[in-house]
Amino acid sequence: MAEQIGENDRLVSAVSGASSGFGAIYARRFAEMGHDLFLVARRQDRLDELAAELREKYGVRVETMRADLSKPDELLAVEKRIELLKNLEYMVNSAGFGGNRQFPDVDIDLETRMIQVHCIATMRLSRAALLPMTARRRGRLINIASAAGYLAGWGAADYTGTKAYILTFSRSLQADVRNKGVRVQALAPGFVKTEFHDSETMKNSGVKEKIWRPLWCSAEKVVDTSLRQINRPIRTVACVPTLLYKLVAWGGSAWCLAPLRVLFSGGRVR
Ligand SMILES: NC(=O)c1ccc[n+]([C@@H]2O[C@H](COP(=O)([O-])OP(=O)(O)OC[C@H]3O[C@@H](n4cnc5c(N)ncnc54)[C@H](OP(=O)(O)O)[C@@H]3O)[C@@H](O)[C@H]2O)c1
Repeated sequence: MAEQIGENDRLVSAVSGASSGFGAIYARRFAEMGHDLFLVARRQDRLDELAAELREKYGVRVETMRADLSKPDELLAVEKRIELLKNLEYMVNSAGFGGNRQFPDVDIDLETRMIQVHCIATMRLSRAALLPMTARRRGRLINIASAAGYLAGWGAADYTGTKAYILTFSRSLQADVRNKGVRVQALAPGFVKTEFHDSETMKNSGVKEKIWRPLWCSAEKVVDTSLRQINRPIRTVACVPTLLYKLVAWGGSAWCLAPLRVLFSGGRVR
């Protein structure tokens, strides 16, 4: 906590889910750009470690906030802080987690928390970020979706459902702010080796063992592609890094492949 940012003219970037994975990499990239940082996650020790590294290496100011974004009061505290970051340049909504159970044998509270973190927190923090960004007519909002948002039938009903929400929500947001100087991106990566696949909710999924090596992408490459794409003059809102996952995304949404999708999802209704 301690260090306060946003009280001078320096650019600020905010990242949720900054304690590991994509979020921590975005934070490092923004620090390299010389931005002060506002970092959010539940593991305060991890945030403190990252903040110390970035202060020392890049001389930037870093404010951290411990918050569980599935809890409305903690989410509200984060929102209120982001609304006040008048020089907010980038906001990244990276907080998220996977699930590994088939309906109806799910932990329904966990699935509800997933909707709170992926959908409600992304929606509320997007709005909080857009307030200073649209006032300044400048800023970039990156919401982490997934290539899974284009798919169905992978034993992850809420994961695919919430990621599809992030994709569509972000596209519509971009339409709403198109004349207000703000760029929106929905990043849709495929499999990436981060702590995501080692978490409590994904243990026993066997994904790390089962998934073919060429299907894994590097987390650094994914983040760098995202940052390159959001700054291109001509771009799409959805950013799907790597050709292979572009094909997956296309296959998941092309109407002509509907019969194949039915087969893959076991969707033959008897
Ligand atoms: N890795 C992949 O294969 C992959 C592929 C496509 C999309 N994604 C998406 O990418 C995003 C980032 O995941 P990652 O791969 O970077 O995994 P990760 O290393 O596990 O990072 C997830 C981050 O989210 C935070 N988080 C989780 N639940 C939270 C909560 N209730 N409140 C606040 N923060 C919370 C975690 O921090 P704390 O635990 O400290 O709270 C952590 O910083 C997720 O939305 C994920 O769905 C991942």
